[in-house]
Amino acid sequence: MATLIRGKEVAAEVLKAAKNDVDALLAQGVMPCLAVILVGDDPASRVYVNKKKEKCEELGIRSLEYKLPAEATQEELLRLIGELNGDKSVHGILCQLPLPKHLDEQLTVRAVAREKDVDGFTCLISSGGEDLMPCTPAGVMEMLKFAGISPRGKKCCVIGRSNIVGKPMAMLLLGADGTVTVCHSKTENLPAVTREADILIAAVGKPRFVTADMVKDGAVVIDVGVNRGADGKLLGDVDFDAVEPKASYITPVPGGVGPMTIAMLMKNTVRAAKAQSRV
Ligand code: GUN
Repeated sequence: MATLIRGKEVAAEVLKAAKNDVDALLAQGVMPCLAVILVGDDPASRVYVNKKKEKCEELGIRSLEYKLPAEATQEELLRLIGELNGDKSVHGILCQLPLPKHLDEQLTVRAVAREKDVDGFTCLISSGGEDLMPCTPAGVMEMLKFAGISPRGKKCCVIGRSNIVGKPMAMLLLGADGTVTVCHSKTENLPAVTREADILIAAVGKPRFVTADMVKDGAVVIDVGVNRGADGKLLGDVDFDAVEPKASYITPVPGGVGPMTIAMLMKNTVRAAKAQSRV
């Protein structure tokens, strides 16, 4: 039987600390503020943006929403980001992805001022600086810490190499002294590679992709997957029922990594507000 690492519990701790920081900032006359940009009418994006706004309100962070029509031009979007970059009352800027197809995500993400990039999309983890970290991988690191698991000296395997999760995840594990392998769709004999891992992170985007034969006995298994089954049910990247008996620790879906992303976004927003107000 594996021990469950529940993101909800870890997220609650992160949010409690963020709330304390918000209160301290408010007492010093600084109101942390997150600007969220939503382009078009993607229903899932609408839900995510609403959740982020609700969490801001809960913590006393001011949230601003900028809604652009699906046919907005790249220039309009960049102009808005430029205005928010220059607005001293705004500490964090988040442009919800995906964007409509005619817009360039890289160009958009890179337009956000580094110190206001609460998504951590422009952060240079590889240079070891003080940038805001990407929320989901940073959330995974918090979960490992909470469970008392150190990547130090351990074989860590990340399946997936996305800019948002896989790549920054690998760099954070490396920064924590893990010995890191990154697997992807071209990896040969994937199960042989993943079976070596003491800490296995699944960030593939395919339901139940990680099966029991891919997991070493006693491994720590972190499931970053958020997939919808045909019945609309939330499914992780890991075949939980088959893998759980082999693992020492495992994260469930839902209730695992998911709640960490918003919690880390709040933490980043508070960090950004602190840094920009120098209190
Ligand atoms: N779309 C899916 N995940 C994310 C995220 O973490 N940040 C933003 N901005 N868009 C997303």
